Amino acid sequence: MIKSSRSKPCFITFEGIDGCGKSTQALLVYRDLTKRGFSVAMFREPGSTNLSEKIRSILLNEKNTISDITELLLYQAARSELTAREIRPELAKGNIVLCDRYYDSTTAYQGYGRGLDLKAVRTLNRIATKGLTPDLTLLFDIDLKTAISRRKKKKDRLESESKSFFVKVRKGFQEIARKERRRIKVVDATQPVENVFLDVKKIISRKLKIDVSS
Ligand code: TYD
Repeated sequence: MIKSSRSKPCFITFEGIDGCGKSTQALLVYRDLTKRGFSVAMFREPGSTNLSEKIRSILLNEKNTISDITELLLYQAARSELTAREIRPELAKGNIVLCDRYYDSTTAYQGYGRGLDLKAVRTLNRIATKGLTPDLTLLFDIDLKTAISRRKKKKDRLESESKSFFVKVRKGFQEIARKERRRIKVVDATQPVENVFLDVKKIISRKLKIDVSS
């Protein structure tokens, strides 16, 4: 495989409510960029390290009752491990890093969804990541009805939340995007997968300054 001479690191995150299709798009981007010779690392949140995957299983197990603050801190603990042990080293090598969810999920779910203090949530986001901000965030915006129809049958702890919770989370994501227009690009995720991917490719090619039209 010919490696691209490009050595500028780039950190791209994928966000949206459950069922928005972000994981599918992250995988398509991973395959596309790898095919083009880029060195790409892909992670998911919560998870992607030994410890973070253990935290993930605690967080998503629907048998667990977890208080709001504990939940917030567990997501941050998982993130701190992933950022320090995996994301930063990959970026230091000059690689592209794709992450399926990052701290915007905490702002949207724990901040807007659970109603925790937004300032405190943002402070913890910064502490957990030591200030590592994505270069680009793709927000897959979708209405709740379509998102629910796309979800797996078996629900995890978060997916078992009420509709009104996800309405708040979606609004939260939209508000975060309005506040950070340069970093966060909103994609219409109600479209068929191929069309969503065309939009995604356009945004990423602009960011990486490459032609990915073919
Ligand atoms: P996800 O990996 O999207 O779930 P799935 O494997 O079912 O596609 O995310 C796990 C869940 O955790 C999801 O419901 C969103 C939630 N979450 C938060 O509430 N806060 C966070 O900070 C993160 C990263 C995820």
